[in-house]
Amino acid sequence: MATITVRNLDEQTKQAIRERAARNGHSMEEEARLLLGAGALADNPERVLTSIVNMAEPEATVENYAPGSQHYFPARGKTVLLIICGGIAAYKSLDLIRRLKERDVEVNVVMTRAAGEFITPLSAGALSHSKVFTDLFDRQDEHDIGHIRLAREADLIVVAPATANMIAKISHGFADDLASAILLASKNQILLAPAMNPAMWNNPATRRNVEALLKDGVQFIGPETGEMAERSEAGRGRMTEPMDIVGEIGRLLDDRPKPLAGLSVVLTAGPTHEPIDPVRYIANRSSGKQGYAIADALAAAGAEVNLVSGPVELARPAGINFFQVESARQMHQAVKNCLPVDIAVMVAAVADWRVANSADEKIKKKPGSTGPVPLKLTENPDILKFIGHHEQRPKLVIGFAAETRDVIKNAKAKLKRKGADWILANDVSPETGIMGGDSNTIKLLSSSGVDEWPNLAKDQVARRLVDKIIAYFDSEIISV
Ligand code: CTP
Repeated sequence: MATITVRNLDEQTKQAIRERAARNGHSMEEEARLLLGAGALADNPERVLTSIVNMAEPEATVENYAPGSQHYFPARGKTVLLIICGGIAAYKSLDLIRRLKERDVEVNVVMTRAAGEFITPLSAGALSHSKVFTDLFDRQDEHDIGHIRLAREADLIVVAPATANMIAKISHGFADDLASAILLASKNQILLAPAMNPAMWNNPATRRNVEALLKDGVQFIGPETGEMAERSEAGRGRMTEPMDIVGEIGRLLDDRPKPLAGLSVVLTAGPTHEPIDPVRYIANRSSGKQGYAIADALAAAGAEVNLVSGPVELARPAGINFFQVESARQMHQAVKNCLPVDIAVMVAAVADWRVANSADEKIKKKPGSTGPVPLKLTENPDILKFIGHHEQRPKLVIGFAAETRDVIKNAKAKLKRKGADWILANDVSPETGIMGGDSNTIKLLSSSGVDEWPNLAKDQVARRLVDKIIAYFDSEIISV
């Protein structure tokens, strides 16, 4: 038998084999051997393996969505040219750069002269890991890259913040600085995130300019309504928050197939916190990672995702509707508000009980008392059961079952009791060390049986589940 040197395989092939191996419960060697079959005897088994893996990957399912650390960000590997104009919101653009880089987006930055009054090219360059371009007549920049190339190399040009002045210049085709010259030379999509005083936004001149740009096919996000940086000023003019701009960038650059487009989802994730008094609460060890990974994978497949999340330490996923809650009752209310939807995925580790008489003031110790402190608990609403029996019941209702023993027996009982179509059961007994970890060993139960999955990373569990959801809506038949 020929030998394979893993080192000789390219990164993409290695990653593909790693994922297949995890999916199929094999070691990498076993997976490679199985894939190769007779090809192992070829002169160059590495090359044979590379072509098999790359050919064998399915085309239009979520499986071929590039996996991120945590996010399947649709604009991964694409190039965004970010033009920062002069405005107090320029500081938010630094966060925007950071969020895009976290998602493996290449970011080139151009700052107008006025932007330099608010942030420095040094900070923008440190975050984007590249030179920041500032001046049209910098000979070296012109020689090195030039405004035409900067414009053409980008998949998307984002202007954030876009000032009233810049909007006026673009709508009239001025090109008197690097930023406006790039915008005039660009044939690509342009996204503007305006930020200005509400009076400027409402001024008929700005209204006309925005109208003209919309007609030209320029995209806008915001501005939002709220408090202005200037004291006692409020109205429409705030720049949209960086994470929402990230979501829009993902949406605009997403050229993948959208098998779940047109379907809406409500998804719960994370733990709930049940107050004992204003400073103490009852919680559990749920990290929210599995729920967030499923929210990402559903959004990547084109579903409209409403994520109702308990308190977690995770970044809010881009491009979804997000509802932050603390207690089970708040989660219940937020889920109700999202109905009707096509799909419900209840991943949250909802506290079964809350404190019946939670105190408005911090509970003090009683001097001299060493006896047990009574805490009266009362049952929380069961959100999955509520959804499973609702008159607006989603077409597909999916729950999880965290069990420490008799996994299948308990999960089967939950499937029936809660009116779910599928239950993803996982063993969270302490020896598995799983709750809060990065992987899960799932048993998927439905009326037609039990499907046992190997131990998979949580983002792989998410993609596999989303594949099943796609298949379900393709055929409208439950097949597991
Ligand atoms: N769930 C819910 N609302 C609750 C309790 C649970 O929506 N108040 C959902 C969870 O999100 C999960 C499923 O029900 O999808 C099962 O949760 P689990 O905690 O395993 O089951 P419980 O109903 O709490 O049963 P037990 O604690 O007795 O195992």
